[in-house]
Amino acid sequence: MRLAILVTLAIALVFSFTNALLVPHMAMTDEEINNLLITDQNLSDSPGDIISPQNNAIWYVGQHVNVTFRQEDPNETVSIFFFNQTKTLAGGPLTRNTFDFVVPPEAVSQNNGSSLLVAVRRRNRYLQSVDAVVIEVLPAK
Ligand SMILES: *[C@@H]1O[C@H](CO)[C@@H](O)[C@H](O)[C@H]1NC(C)=O
Ligand SMILES: *[C@@H]1O[C@H](CO)[C@@H](O)[C@H](O)[C@H]1NC(C)=O
Ligand SMILES: *[C@@H]1O[C@H](CO)[C@@H](O)[C@H](O)[C@H]1NC(C)=O
Ligand SMILES: *[C@@H]1O[C@H](CO)[C@@H](O)[C@H](O)[C@H]1NC(C)=O
Ligand SMILES: *[C@@H]1O[C@H](CO)[C@@H](O)[C@H](O)[C@H]1NC(C)=O
Repeated sequence: MRLAILVTLAIALVFSFTNALLVPHMAMTDEEINNLLITDQNLSDSPGDIISPQNNAIWYVGQHVNVTFRQEDPNETVSIFFFNQTKTLAGGPLTRNTFDFVVPPEAVSQNNGSSLLVAVRRRNRYLQSVDAVVIEVLPAK
C-alpha cells in the first residue's frame, strides 16, 4: 500500500518534472530536482554516457564549456544543470552529442568542495537516465 503511494508519487513527480523541461530555460525547483535524483542511487559517481568532462575537472565561472555524450539519439532529450545549484544550463534533443554553456556564478563549489553536474535524459517523456560528473567550480580567473 505504502509502496503503491510512493510509486504513484514518483511517477507524478517525473511527469511534473518532464513538463517543466518542455519549456526551455524554465527554472526547476530544488524540490523537483531532489525528489527526482534521490531515486538514482548511482548518482554520485556515475558519468554514464557523459564522456566529457571527466570527474574532478576544474571549471571557472564565465568559462565556455562543452558537455559531450557518447552518442546522439534523436529520440532522447537531455537537460543539464548543477545539482541543487543552478537552473537548466543547456539541453534539448540529442540530435547532437555536444552541448555548451557558460559556467554561471551559482555553480561555484562551496568550501573548496565540488559541484555535481547532472544530465537528465528522457525518451518519450519518460526518465531514461541520470548521469553525473563531479566538477570543481572556481570563481572567475
Ligand atoms: C548502478 O550501477 C551498476 C554498475 O555500474 C549497475 O549495474 C546498476 O544497474 C546501476 N543501478 C541503477 C539504479 O542505475
Ligand atoms: C566545444 O565543441 C565545439 C564543437 O562541437 C568546438 O568548436 C569548441 O571549440 C568546443 N569548446 C570547448 C571549450 O571545448
Ligand atoms: C527513434 O524512434 C523512431 C520511431 O519510434 C524509431 O523508428 C527509431 O528506430 C528510433 N531511433 C533510435 C535511435 O532509437
Ligand atoms: C542544497 O543547497 C543548500 C544551500 O543552497 C544546502 O543547504 C543543502 O544542503 C543542499 N542540499 C543538498 C541535497 O545538497
Ligand atoms: C582551497 O583550495 C586551494 C587550492 O586548491 C588551497 O590553496 C586552499 O588552502 C584551500 N582552502 C581551504 C579552506 O581548504
